[in-house]
Amino acid sequence: MSLPSTQQQWVIKGQDKGFDGLVREEGPVPQVGENDVLVRLYGASLNYRDLIIPKGMYPFPLDLPVVAGSDGAGEVLAVGSKVTKWKKGDKVVTLFNQAHQAGAIDARGATSGLGGVLDGTLRQYGVFNEDGVVRIPANLNYVEAATLTCAGLTSWNALYGLKALKPGETVLVQGTGGVSLFALQFAKAAGARVIATTSSAEKAEVLKKLGADHVINYREDKNWGETARKLTPGGVGVDHVIEVGGEDTMEQSLKAVKYEGVISLIGFLGGAKPKDNILEPLSRICTIRGIYVGSRQQLEEMCAAIEANDIHPVVDQKVFTLDQAKEAYEYMWAKKHFGKIGIKIE
Ligand SMILES: NC(=O)c1ccc[n+]([C@@H]2O[C@H](COP(=O)([O-])OP(=O)(O)OC[C@H]3O[C@@H](n4cnc5c(N)ncnc54)[C@H](OP(=O)(O)O)[C@@H]3O)[C@@H](O)[C@H]2O)c1
Repeated sequence: MSLPSTQQQWVIKGQDKGFDGLVREEGPVPQVGENDVLVRLYGASLNYRDLIIPKGMYPFPLDLPVVAGSDGAGEVLAVGSKVTKWKKGDKVVTLFNQAHQAGAIDARGATSGLGGVLDGTLRQYGVFNEDGVVRIPANLNYVEAATLTCAGLTSWNALYGLKALKPGETVLVQGTGGVSLFALQFAKAAGARVIATTSSAEKAEVLKKLGADHVINYREDKNWGETARKLTPGGVGVDHVIEVGGEDTMEQSLKAVKYEGVISLIGFLGGAKPKDNILEPLSRICTIRGIYVGSRQQLEEMCAAIEANDIHPVVDQKVFTLDQAKEAYEYMWAKKHFGKIGIKIE
């Protein structure tokens, strides 16, 4: 099959026009270097991070203009002369921080994000270093697999990156976004208990179907952290908190956590203004750990666990096409989604 010389892609041009800074254009199909793979992308998905880049709210390094999107999955079409890991036809998912291979992230790893510093996945063809992709779990389709890059791996890193989750422990997940739903699924597969929060009775039912042991409505119960603590065996508190609300939720997360428990500070959906609780990790004897996605090694371990446990990511019922990417951004910004937003790439 001969390759076209150009392709459709979405490029972030600036940070001062909101989603109008995201522009659809025709771009070149990139050339494969000797250590690279050329991937025909068939699936992508969105993260809150993708939305706040054109809105100028993203706190991590950027190098604009850049092809948008970190999450992608597809098929290897060609490999460079020195590539040993992959062959034509292999099915792969992208690694978020391309230079974060294993262990702790360093400055190089933190400045190698797809769709931020390096060209991302909202396009038909991408070239990645052979270590910048991982085999997709055999039980997943391309759109499902694409959701693993950011939200999936971040949850996995939260539960296994510092203090590995054990069966019988308790995990607190906040809301029904992509990161929290992955954490719920991983925790249940690991034999842990899950306490989930949400703002709606309808979503509470879905959380229970996904295996949540307890669901608390955080709008009705303002002291939900204390409630979560009381729901743990002996009232000692939760072992892991998946903290995605930031300013809105940290106070309650601190109330919920057990001595020596871990609060994984992942997001700031409810704002990022600092609160005057600097000594609380001391008085509550807990760890608050900032997380920036995860490594290739963790992505491989997570994919193995997903395949072994036949876990399917929760993807919103409305799946978009590449042409409709901007509509997908608007849909997510309007908070109409449940779980991950999928984009099919024709
Ligand atoms: N550090 C990292 O490496 C990393 C990686 C991935 C994501 N993140 C961040 O993690 C956060 C979550 O990402 P996501 O993709 O899961 O987002 P998402 O899919 O947009 O999550 C939306 C859901 O979060 C819940 N929520 C929103 N505001 C809340 C609040 N103030 N308090 C409690 N829950 C709230 C709501 O659940 P209900 O509708 O059920 O109430 C909402 O439906 C974002 O801030 C994102 O930027 C960080």
